[in-house]
Amino acid sequence: MTEQFRNKDTAWSARFTEPVSELVKRYTASVSFDRRLATVDIRGSLAHAEMLAHVGILSAADLLSIRNGFSTIEQEIGDGAFNWSVDLEDVHLNIERRLTELVGDAGKRLHTARSRNDQVATDIRLWLRDTIDELDLALRALQTEFVDLAETHAGTIMPGFTHLQVAQPVTFGHHLLAYVEMLSRDAWRLQDCRRRVNQLPLGAAALAGTSFPIDRARVARSLGFEGVCGNSLDAVSDRDFAIEFCAAASLIMMHISRLSEELVLWMSPRVGFIDLPDRFCTGSSIMPQKKNPDVPELARGKTGRVNGHLVALLTLMKGQPLAYNKDNQEDKEPLFDAADTVLQTLRIFVEMVPGIEVRADRMRMAAAEGFSTATDLADYLVRKGMPFRDAHETVALAVRKASERGVDLAELTLEELRGFSNLIEKDIGGVLTLEGSVSSRDHFGGTAPAQVRAAIAGHRERLGTAVGEDGR
Ligand code: ARG
Repeated sequence: MTEQFRNKDTAWSARFTEPVSELVKRYTASVSFDRRLATVDIRGSLAHAEMLAHVGILSAADLLSIRNGFSTIEQEIGDGAFNWSVDLEDVHLNIERRLTELVGDAGKRLHTARSRNDQVATDIRLWLRDTIDELDLALRALQTEFVDLAETHAGTIMPGFTHLQVAQPVTFGHHLLAYVEMLSRDAWRLQDCRRRVNQLPLGAAALAGTSFPIDRARVARSLGFEGVCGNSLDAVSDRDFAIEFCAAASLIMMHISRLSEELVLWMSPRVGFIDLPDRFCTGSSIMPQKKNPDVPELARGKTGRVNGHLVALLTLMKGQPLAYNKDNQEDKEPLFDAADTVLQTLRIFVEMVPGIEVRADRMRMAAAEGFSTATDLADYLVRKGMPFRDAHETVALAVRKASERGVDLAELTLEELRGFSNLIEKDIGGVLTLEGSVSSRDHFGGTAPAQVRAAIAGHRERLGTAVGEDGR
């Protein structure tokens, strides 16, 4: 009984006198979710095997067998024919067992100078590196959509808000470019995180390194790692790079959530600044008139889920003594789900943003209400020599009067305006109009249409989508 169980059921049976209980087997197994690491697991194993052969630990014949075995396994996984077994706990043991079935002793030699501890740490880093590259593409695509829309609306006027109260007129293009700035910092953060992800743990073995004469730099080179983890205990145990990634993912979702909140608000019939195409909305099962902005609402909701994954990983790590602990197997589901959620969200926004239908007339109407050019009048008085605090007070009186009469500042006559200050002259003309207001904010980072166009040119150059370059 012992002999049969030793050979069949696990990778470490000789030490054990009974098989693991069914409940424990299911509790400790990770193959249901870590099998998505199969491709990178094989990539890592091939680099390890090649290095072992290079330093003479593995024969050339064994290396060839291992390569052939892996290509069969990749084929089987691709065809959905691979038999994943929960008895073999995780992706690593499943693949190693199949390799051994296929190529015999060469498969059993592969694990020389390696442990699953450094193996899994390597796999996650390889997987995360690829994922960051996909996210980078999606972030760029979304920025490009915003830039395109901003170009169309470089001169479209809307109210700018503070405290959700009408503050000053801005251009819609300028508003959209605010999100481009956020997303470009998000991409920058991910690139920075990628450098710390892209360090090789392999060679740390279980925790202390290995007694074999391995060549870690060679493995790092062949897997495209920028460096080699400098301490074996740290290499197998810390998941700070995954936490850092989740923090960057949370920030992306936070930005998307702010945008979503605006889209929902703008689409409310009371505001009516935009409409979203039907394909991004759903109806109500009871109220036939409803058209709900489900995509932005769900994105806002999923932000909480990604934030949760960040906290899960921070909590997972905080109590762990050096070096590897099985706790770390719990890193994968939050990490995978955070990455999947952000990627899906970005991809759907890439499709949705160009579909935003802008109601420029409604935006303009809202900007014309709420005395949005009051600051322009104050600035005008300052230019005529009045101290700003006095100008502020003077304009407040004018706003009160206009408000009582139910008209906008621009609708007060010159005589009425001069009643507040005789510094006001004919040249007040364009100053209180919406166009005059936005075009006067004509400096780097300002809302003037000319500045929006200049910013767009800068973004296009950075994103490599200068007009004409890609046929647009
Ligand atoms: N499935 C494990 C994980 O995800 C692999 C490492 C297991 N190592 C160990 N000594 N039990 O972390």
